[in-house]
Amino acid sequence: MPDLWQEAMDHAVAVARKAGEVVREALQNERKVMCKSTSVDLVTQTDQKVEQLIIASVKEKFPTHSFIGEESVADGQPCVLSENPTWIIDPVDGTTNFVHGYPFIAVCIGFAVEKKLEFGVVYSCIEDKMYAARRGKGAFCNGEPLQVSPQKEINQSIIATEFGSNRDPELVDKIFSNMRKILCLPVHGIRGVGSAALNMCLVAAGCVEAYYEMGIHCWDVAAAAVIVEEAGGVLMDFEGGPMDLMSRRIVAANNQTIAERVIKEIEPFPAVRDDAPLQTKQ
Ligand code: IPD
Ligand code: CA
Ligand code: CA
Ligand code: CA
Repeated sequence: MPDLWQEAMDHAVAVARKAGEVVREALQNERKVMCKSTSVDLVTQTDQKVEQLIIASVKEKFPTHSFIGEESVADGQPCVLSENPTWIIDPVDGTTNFVHGYPFIAVCIGFAVEKKLEFGVVYSCIEDKMYAARRGKGAFCNGEPLQVSPQKEINQSIIATEFGSNRDPELVDKIFSNMRKILCLPVHGIRGVGSAALNMCLVAAGCVEAYYEMGIHCWDVAAAAVIVEEAGGVLMDFEGGPMDLMSRRIVAANNQTIAERVIKEIEPFPAVRDDAPLQTKQ
């Protein structure tokens, strides 16, 4: 029997590369910026164009598959991950970077079957780095195997996080209070490249020990989740236990020791789930 999922993954790599070309070309021109939920939650025509390009290309080859794409999920709608083979797409991860020409921008394509992630492709289009991993088959960047850092001491670690796009002062206070606790452990440093997926790829590549964020969506992390695990890392929820793709929070780390140490320091704040029923979604 042909390996259908390998065919799907090869297709994801090819279409991510094509999408990356579109992003690079768009960076040469003026970008028209629009806002979504807040004035700092940005979107451009390139985000929309790239998502349409990916979905159209996949539909042609795999007409029965389902899609969850950041720019196709209507605002406030729940996104439901079914058992059907599903492509989880973030066409431009790092839209704010894209708007400013800050050179960390990724095209992310995750793929789940029976709600389980099967492969992930993250193309860092300015760096021209193709991160890809298939469940059980290892993680690679431009064909070179990836391995997480062996570090077990938090005070010898770099931790990555982001601020998201919610500027509610109470929430921002919590983000800073969590960062303060982590910084004062002390850790070697706190970083954030402005793309959830690329922060996770840096965990997979062994340059960063852990990445955590609250408020992310399934499309921000689905593809990179496979890459982190296949590079030997772990994905956890803030309450401990395995990551729940729809829970809008994640700790991705090189190992359990570092993940648990991060979780011990930070105080989680509730976020509405990606698959929350309509009446409770904000
Ligand atoms: C965002 C980026 C950012 C993270 C946000 C994401 P977008 O994705 O990954 O680093 O802090 O939570 O929403 O909107 O640029 O695709
Ligand atoms: Ca966005
Ligand atoms: Ca994103
Ligand atoms: Ca995006």
